[in-house]
Amino acid sequence: MGEAIIQIENLVVNYGRPGPRQVQALKGVSLEVYRGEIFGLLGPNGAGKTTLLSVLEGLLKPGAGRVTVQGIDVTRDPTGVRRLLGTQLQQTALVDDLTVEELINLYAALYEVYLTKEQIHSLLERFDLAEQRREYPRRLSGGQRQRLAVAAAIAHDPQIVLLDEPTSALDPQARRKIWGMIRTIHEEGRTVILTTHSMEEAELLCGRVSIIDRGQHVAMGSPVQLIASLDAGTMIKTVLELPLEEVQAVPGVVQARYTGQHLEVESCQPNETLAALTALAARYRQPLGEVSMRQPNLEDVFLQLTGRTLQV
Ligand SMILES: Nc1ncnc2c1ncn2[C@@H]1O[C@H](COP(=O)(O)OP(=O)(O)O)[C@@H](O)[C@H]1O
Ligand SMILES: [Mg+2]
Repeated sequence: MGEAIIQIENLVVNYGRPGPRQVQALKGVSLEVYRGEIFGLLGPNGAGKTTLLSVLEGLLKPGAGRVTVQGIDVTRDPTGVRRLLGTQLQQTALVDDLTVEELINLYAALYEVYLTKEQIHSLLERFDLAEQRREYPRRLSGGQRQRLAVAAAIAHDPQIVLLDEPTSALDPQARRKIWGMIRTIHEEGRTVILTTHSMEEAELLCGRVSIIDRGQHVAMGSPVQLIASLDAGTMIKTVLELPLEEVQAVPGVVQARYTGQHLEVESCQPNETLAALTALAARYRQPLGEVSMRQPNLEDVFLQLTGRTLQV
């Protein structure tokens, strides 16, 4: 257990006036973020992740509930809270007539932090953007722009960094690079809160995650704890078309289902299951193709808790 740096109690946020068209974006969410952790807010599109960050940033007034950052109430002292936070810029905010280094300079200055040329250069070097320092953001690649957005978030050296889907729409290589940078800003002693709908990202980076869905908190814990709490077996995935009842009767099978053209089987005795499945397939004169086995992951946790998949 760590020391809570952010406390959120019964947070309710509604968009629009009361009535049938009102959107209840957060329906009483409570959570704590500990100092020095990478905390993940995991949920599908529309879950309320960005809304929660907007409240933290003081951009949105909650309908009810209490949010404090280092003991400061966001509603009472939004400026005091904002000073403690670094926020990843929206991509659109980068489309500007400022060069990369001018932008870093400006964003630090907004917090009354005035950086020297050397400080800006070393920050850009850490984010592998030193060569681009005289470029305009619009001329950067997607990955470089995203790194710039994260660099700008820590230009004023905040203790807490909020990253809203930092790697969405990036290719795998650019994603890995951002993951490395997130680890770096974390190793520098900062608390990082990131939102994602990628379970892979959450598992790789986050010490603890909170799963939210449709404005409600569904589960919380370390990825390992959440997965262990499922008590699930090995997932076997293959391309087969067999009667589901027969698959369910195969030794070791806990459950089986079809997803698209794949047969997915959860097994507590994967070797026995695979052998029996091979025999069953042979009886139906089908080759066992594209077999893959994996351990359960956060996607399975979400599926079990909500009955739906995370990817949307
Ligand atoms: N400005 C807004 N006006 C009305 N509804 C909104 C607004 N912003 C978000 N919403 C709605 O609130 C819910 C949560 O949105 P959001 O916090 O953006 O989710 P996420 O970031 O998890 O995708 C969604 O149903 C979304 O459509
Ligand atoms: Mg969002």
